[in-house]
Amino acid sequence: MPENTYVGAIDQGTTGTRFMIFDHAGQVVANAYEKHEQIYPEPGWVEHDPMEIWENTKTVVSRALREGGLDPGQLAGLGITNQRETTVIWDAETGTPIYNALVWQDRRTTARVEELQAADKVEWIREKTGLECDAYFSATKAEWLLDNADPIKLERVRPQDIRDRAEDGQLRMGTIDSWLIYKLTGRHVTDVTNASRTMLYNIREMEWDDELLDEFNVPVQLLPEVRPSSDDDYYGHTDPEGFLGAEVPVAGALGDQQAALFGQTCFDEGDAKNTYGTGAFFLMNTGEEPVRSDHGLLTTVGFQRSGEPVQYALEGSIFVAGAAIEWLEDVDLVDDPTETAELARSVESTDGVYVVPAFTGLGAPHWDGRARGTIVGMTRGTRREHLVRATLESIAYQTRDLAEAMEADSDIEMSTLRVDGGAVKNNFLCQLQSDIIGTDIARPVVDETTALGSAYAAGLAVGYWDDTDELRENWQVDRQFSPRMDRPRANEMYARWDDAVERSLDWAQD
Ligand code: G3P
Repeated sequence: MPENTYVGAIDQGTTGTRFMIFDHAGQVVANAYEKHEQIYPEPGWVEHDPMEIWENTKTVVSRALREGGLDPGQLAGLGITNQRETTVIWDAETGTPIYNALVWQDRRTTARVEELQAADKVEWIREKTGLECDAYFSATKAEWLLDNADPIKLERVRPQDIRDRAEDGQLRMGTIDSWLIYKLTGRHVTDVTNASRTMLYNIREMEWDDELLDEFNVPVQLLPEVRPSSDDDYYGHTDPEGFLGAEVPVAGALGDQQAALFGQTCFDEGDAKNTYGTGAFFLMNTGEEPVRSDHGLLTTVGFQRSGEPVQYALEGSIFVAGAAIEWLEDVDLVDDPTETAELARSVESTDGVYVVPAFTGLGAPHWDGRARGTIVGMTRGTRREHLVRATLESIAYQTRDLAEAMEADSDIEMSTLRVDGGAVKNNFLCQLQSDIIGTDIARPVVDETTALGSAYAAGLAVGYWDDTDELRENWQVDRQFSPRMDRPRANEMYARWDDAVERSLDWAQD
């Protein structure tokens, strides 16, 4: 590895885009971030503008390089990690999207999902994809776009029927990794982890599934080539004339939750992590065989390196975790997320209040697209401190739901849970999490493990790192939290959580 070289990672998340540059020790040497607009055209609809995301990507890459005093030629490789499931369709010739991206949180296709449920297709879908039949995944979003993106109203594309153009091979579809790789290199590819979130990909056969493509009426010519997450043949190179002024290999891509699993060096069966971002995503590496869940978890692809077998994972997906803290800010219960720990600590308990932040339905283990946010147990004495504490507790309870499901499905008892994501800066939350589950929580020094994971994937492919042992050596604990609360009290608090969740289910009517 030449001296003074680094690996870059584009981390394109739900709320913004980050570019991070890592050195050989896995330490951050430069970092830039830009938010993008959240577009809510109707209740339950969530969209992003893919062109804004692409512009922001260019901005953060240039800014991080400039502020770090680095030259693009010093990047040995580029990795990409991304909000998963979010779906974009674009014109192959012009590279312009035909419509906004439909975001993973978007619930506009709930009725279509209910149709599939009524037609008894849930098991059939689970068997092929490992996924719950839910609007969360890309399949119904792609179907919606092909049926509803009205070319007459869109300035960006020629007015010809979208479906005709798709059949004709004039359009491309992808998750955000695929969109960015296309813009960076001109190649239409995706990695196995992102493909596994589309509900169009067969995770046993490891290929696009013809029967699912028929069901959702998605022409195969729309779809990207599926490649390993760490690809020795590279997805492509950045265009020296355009983006970076340098020909940098783009060689690693993982959906953000799988990237965090990789960045936390969960390379062995039984290794688990929970990331507290907009949502919270708990993944456990289950090795070379997909493990079927009987407790509402997803079976998904964990990662794959070139020439090596696919590593599978069990996943518990919570749609709202860090976003619940943002909501406290939106409704003026706090001025800043950093206040939440102090406010929560200022009261002994929530005084019986439970907040269920089911703002976009409930994911694992309930899978109810019609669930909505609920607060129960309030009295005349309820103060904002109780509500703030109850909101933080809801994150810990949801995670315990997943930990219990994970242990029951895998028969593996977790000793330590590795955590990362913005919300783990909150020590109160980490301690509470340890208390509620009754297990040790380990927070690493580099908590940007999502970006780190995709840098590792790219760096392994280009030979910047030799092997995963080298990466394991980079992983260091910042702080370990051990349970302090007595178990009966933790269990008593958790016992009523289920009752509160019950009250939030099946609420939305349209
Ligand atoms: O599946 C959705 C997930 O990938 C989004 O992650 O970190 O952008 O909230 P995040």
